[in-house]
Amino acid sequence: MSGTNQRIDGKRLWDSLMAMAEIGATPKGGVRRLTLTDVDKDGRARFRGWCETLDLKVRVDAMGNMFARREGRDPTRLPVLMGSHLDSQPTGGKFDGALGVIAGLEVMRTLHELNIQTEAPVELINWTDEEGSRFGRSLMGSGVWAGVYPQDAAYGWADIDGVTVSDALDRIGAKGEHPAKPFPADAYFELHIEQGPILEREGKQVGVVTGAQAQVWWDAVVTGQDAHAGTTPPSARKDALLTAARIIALVDEMMRAHGDDGRGTVGWLQVVNASRNVVPGEVRFSVEFRHPETAAIEAIAAAFPQRAAEIANANRTPLDLKELFLLPHQPFDPGCVGIVREASARLGYTTRDIISGAGHDAVYVARSVPTAMIFTPCKDGLSHNEAESIEPEEAEAGTQVLFQAVLARANR
Ligand code: GLV
Ligand code: MN
Ligand code: MN
Ligand code: MN
Repeated sequence: MSGTNQRIDGKRLWDSLMAMAEIGATPKGGVRRLTLTDVDKDGRARFRGWCETLDLKVRVDAMGNMFARREGRDPTRLPVLMGSHLDSQPTGGKFDGALGVIAGLEVMRTLHELNIQTEAPVELINWTDEEGSRFGRSLMGSGVWAGVYPQDAAYGWADIDGVTVSDALDRIGAKGEHPAKPFPADAYFELHIEQGPILEREGKQVGVVTGAQAQVWWDAVVTGQDAHAGTTPPSARKDALLTAARIIALVDEMMRAHGDDGRGTVGWLQVVNASRNVVPGEVRFSVEFRHPETAAIEAIAAAFPQRAAEIANANRTPLDLKELFLLPHQPFDPGCVGIVREASARLGYTTRDIISGAGHDAVYVARSVPTAMIFTPCKDGLSHNEAESIEPEEAEAGTQVLFQAVLARANR
């Protein structure tokens, strides 16, 4: 077991977090680093440069997932993995994703600086398109890697401008030669901000993440009829936006039926050919629900399409609903969770067990590799917001736990 006298460098960590946040910086202090854009390309290049300074070998797979490897002493040992994502929401914060990647870099730097040769190799991963805000599926890179989505299908997904994933990868030179599929690994650890208020509210420094909640996502299209706003009487209207509004109210109602555990969101909506004096003839929107229990999400997945269709049909505007994915509750590996808990205790941090409300690449990695996550608090529980904020000491504590967990596993 490693001692706790070996420490990561909190200032170096923070400086690199701020250096990454310069790439795609927004006027309000956040980050816009949408997946597979020129800004993402710059982020990837900076990350690669930092890795190569440490003599890490960087390989890239067909989905643009980046793997930076540090060899261990024992060539027969499977690698210990860590990572997260450098892409952001359209108006995201500095830390969602970037913390886990830059913390992993700080772990690599510390191993390098202290001349520590681990028994097992260690790999640091930057997953492509964790956020899903451009191509519609979150956890895209890790999802293809894990075999959840066929690569050919993912290559064909397009953004709102019709640019496919395959073309976007090619355009920024992010498509690598290695196949995007699981390889044998000993463990995966992902550090992330909590993105919710629990740790801050309870004054805990570290969250020991035991699993992630279930979710289901759809694309919805309501088709009515464009018509003149001034001449079309109520009896002749086929107002697609009115239907969408009623379905949004249904999402809220179904969420609230699950009390404090329910989540239901329509976060994106487009009125096609919108004009203030046209009755909307076509509306497109996203729908997602989340809940800690798979059974609750399965019940919603069974009931929502029917209830939404009834609303649409009653308004004479048919609904086309496409389920994008249903993710069951994903428990993390008790052994890896135990390593995180022990590392936090050895370091003297206050902790609490927590279930992740957000999706993370760790959810898909956990299907083939023993996995755990570490959470740090974030200010006012705010995330997917430019005002997302954490303290340097919080980043340092989470990274210290990541370092100790990786070291314990790689030298066991
Ligand atoms: C990813 O950011 C999610 O929606 O949980
Ligand atoms: Mn994230
Ligand atoms: Mn996010
Ligand atoms: Mn996320």
